[in-house]
Amino acid sequence: MKKSKIIGTGSFLPEKIVTNADLEKILDTSDQWIRERTGIRERRVAHDDETGSDMAEIAAQRAMKAAGVDPQEIGLIVVGTTTPDVVFPSSACLLQARLSLPDCGAMDVNAACSGFMYALSIADKYIRCGDVKKALVIGFDKLTSMLDWNDRGTAVLFADGAGAVVLEAADEPGILSTHIHAAGRHSDLLGVDVGVGVGFKEEKRGGVRIKMKGNEVFKVAVRTLGRIVDETLEHNNMDKSDLDWLIPHQANYRIITATAKKLGLTMDQVVVTVDRHGNTSAASVPLALDEAIRSGKVKRGDLLLLEAFGGGFTWASALIRY
Ligand code: UT7
Repeated sequence: MKKSKIIGTGSFLPEKIVTNADLEKILDTSDQWIRERTGIRERRVAHDDETGSDMAEIAAQRAMKAAGVDPQEIGLIVVGTTTPDVVFPSSACLLQARLSLPDCGAMDVNAACSGFMYALSIADKYIRCGDVKKALVIGFDKLTSMLDWNDRGTAVLFADGAGAVVLEAADEPGILSTHIHAAGRHSDLLGVDVGVGVGFKEEKRGGVRIKMKGNEVFKVAVRTLGRIVDETLEHNNMDKSDLDWLIPHQANYRIITATAKKLGLTMDQVVVTVDRHGNTSAASVPLALDEAIRSGKVKRGDLLLLEAFGGGFTWASALIRY
């Protein structure tokens, strides 16, 4: 059976930087509180007319360029996002056309912050079964378009961006395993409770706004990520001491350090971007991966553990021999 291998990565961040000092001017918050409780110093915010697929298009072009792949060679595009430009066509279909891909399969996955990891898992399976030779996997989100800028519990956290990888079928892994989970019973702790079915403008719901019971999400996230890293290593008969890098979802520096501690890793074995990116949802893991590869931190042959946790709840991981 074939395995899949990452042959190129790319990412994109909007130009506009919003610092904690900027947020102090509009919210009852402080730079000190945000840094101490989340690790975030600044984040990127897309302009009103800059859509998620605008960001994703550039990230994908960069990934295909890094892979040395012509768009016509791509056999599948899977996109993790919760903020598509339109209800349908899917972001994957829009991007397929914008990137001049062939008439390959194209699908979106809505798994909130775990969207990229879910998309990676799906693409990996298509390559393993032999149906696809090269796949484009994208994670993007423009969560600031659903932020209540008066809610200090969410406005200081979320941000915008996009990341992408190109996978290719190979004889050696590559992606050793992927793991996906969900627990819909926690749906009331994090979400946007409007939509096509229930309507967008009902006053009682307050419009298209992210609502989060942050402290409760935090506790479940730490517990759950602790479990999935164990599951991932056990599945591969590997020990935490085998790992070279943890590339975690960038939601909160305290959640990241808890997972690193559980794995016995020092913080210089952890890719951290949350200080500069904030929580970019489905973009956070591929952004961190791309940054770590382009900076030369992550090298060919390194063993990487990727993980994410998000609304749903959803959570996912991948063990990768880069
Ligand atoms: O990516 C998807 C998954 N999302 C996450 O993983 C997010 C998980 N949650 C978190 O990261 C953290 O829970 C937060 C950063 C959202 C909040 O940190 P916390 O340490 O859990 O704070 P808290 O919610 O328990 O609130 C502590 C205090 C409260 O004040 P009182 O009641 O003690 O007086 C809050 O009102 O901090 C207050 N607070 C703030 N103060 C200043 C909450 N947000 C802010 C703020 N600035 N932005």
